[in-house]
Amino acid sequence: MGVGFESVVAKELQALGYNTRTEDGRVFFEGGQADVVRTNLWLRSADRIKILLKEFRVTDFETLYDQVNALDWAELLPVDAKFPVQGRAVRSKLHSEPDVQSIVKKAIVDKMTEQYHRRGFLPETGAVYPLDIRIYKDVARVALDTTGESLFKRGYRVEHGGAPLKENFAAGLLKLTPFNGTHPLIDPMTGSGTLAIEAALIGKNVAPGTWRSFTYDQFDWFDAKLHPAQVAQAKTLVHPLEAPILACDIDQSILEIAKVNAHNAGVLQDISFKQVAVKDFATELENGVIIANPPYGKRLKDRDQVATLYQEMGQTLGPLTSFSQYYLASAPFFEQAFGKRATKKRKLFNGNLRVDFYQYWANRK
Ligand SMILES: C[S@@+](CC[C@H](N)C(=O)[O-])C[C@H]1O[C@@H](n2cnc3c(N)ncnc32)[C@H](O)[C@@H]1O
Repeated sequence: MGVGFESVVAKELQALGYNTRTEDGRVFFEGGQADVVRTNLWLRSADRIKILLKEFRVTDFETLYDQVNALDWAELLPVDAKFPVQGRAVRSKLHSEPDVQSIVKKAIVDKMTEQYHRRGFLPETGAVYPLDIRIYKDVARVALDTTGESLFKRGYRVEHGGAPLKENFAAGLLKLTPFNGTHPLIDPMTGSGTLAIEAALIGKNVAPGTWRSFTYDQFDWFDAKLHPAQVAQAKTLVHPLEAPILACDIDQSILEIAKVNAHNAGVLQDISFKQVAVKDFATELENGVIIANPPYGKRLKDRDQVATLYQEMGQTLGPLTSFSQYYLASAPFFEQAFGKRATKKRKLFNGNLRVDFYQYWANRK
C-alpha cells in the first residue's frame, strides 16, 4: 500500500467485517482461505495479502535459523515448490538483508530435504510460493505472499510513458474523499484515467481483482473452487453507476489511452471523457467530488508553469464550492497559487515522492 494508507486499508478491511490491528505499516486481520480470496479480490488500496506463518524475537542468526527450521515446511511447500525468499531488516540487530535472506532460505532447504528425504537437492521447478522475512525492531515475521504481482496491477492498464498513479494509490485517495458513487465525480486532469476508472469501479461495486490471477491459484493445498466461486459472486454484485463521472485533460492523446484503460476495466460507458484545458473548464454538475493529480513540476524550470496551472485551477475550480475538492501536489506553493487555504492537508508518499493531499471541503447546496 502507499505509505500513509494504513488507516485506509484498515477501514476497507473493517467494512468487509474484519477486526484489524495496525503495526509497522502493516494491517493484520484473521481469516481462512476464503478470506484470502475475498481480500485479494476486494481490497482497493492494499498492496499484497500475506499469510503470517510465524512471529518471533530474534537478535542472532542461530535463533533465526532454528525458528524458521522449526516450521513444518513440507506441509506448506510441495517437493518441487519454487520458493524465492525476500528479506527485509529495519532497526534491528540483524541488519544484513542478504544474510537474513540466505539463512532463512538455508533453514527451509535443510528442513525440506530432511522431510522429503532429498539429500540437499530441491528442484524448485514447480509452482511459486513467494516467502518473505521481515525483521522490524528485532521482531521477525515470516510470511507467504498470496498475491504475487502487487494488487495495484489490476490488469486493465495499457503500458505507456507519463506518470500514471498506481491503481491502489488512486483508490486510496478516493477512499479519503466522501465519494461513493451517488454524487458526481470530476477529474479535470485525468491523464491515463486512473482516478476516474477507480471511481467508476467503486461506484459500480466492481471487485478490483476481477480480471487477474493470484499466487494462491497455484498453491496445491488451496481450495481451487473458492476463486471462481467468489469471482462469479462478485459479478452478481455489480450495479449501475448512479451519478456521472467526468474525466478531462488538455491532451487528446492521453485521453485516448484513458479510454482504452476504461474499456479494459469495463467502465468506458460510465465515464465522459472531454478534452479541455483547466482554464476553460466549466460544469453544470453540483454537489460532488473534484479530485486531481496535476503535474508536479518537479524540475525547477517547470515551476512557473505549474504555478500558473494551479492558479488557473483556483480560478475555474475554486468557485465550485458545492464540490469537495482534493488535489495531490508536491509543490509547497500549491495553496498560495490556488488562492485558497486547504481545509485539511494529508501527508502521503507517492512512491518515494513526498506529496500533500489538499482537501477543500464543500458547502453543499
Ligand atoms: C500527473 S498527470 C495525471 C496522471 C493521472 N492521475 C493518471 O493516473 O494517469 C497530469 C495530467 O494533467 C494534464 N494537464 C496538464 N496541464 C493541463 C491543463 N492546463 N489542463 C488540463 N489538463 C492538464 C496532463 O496532460 C497530464 O495528463
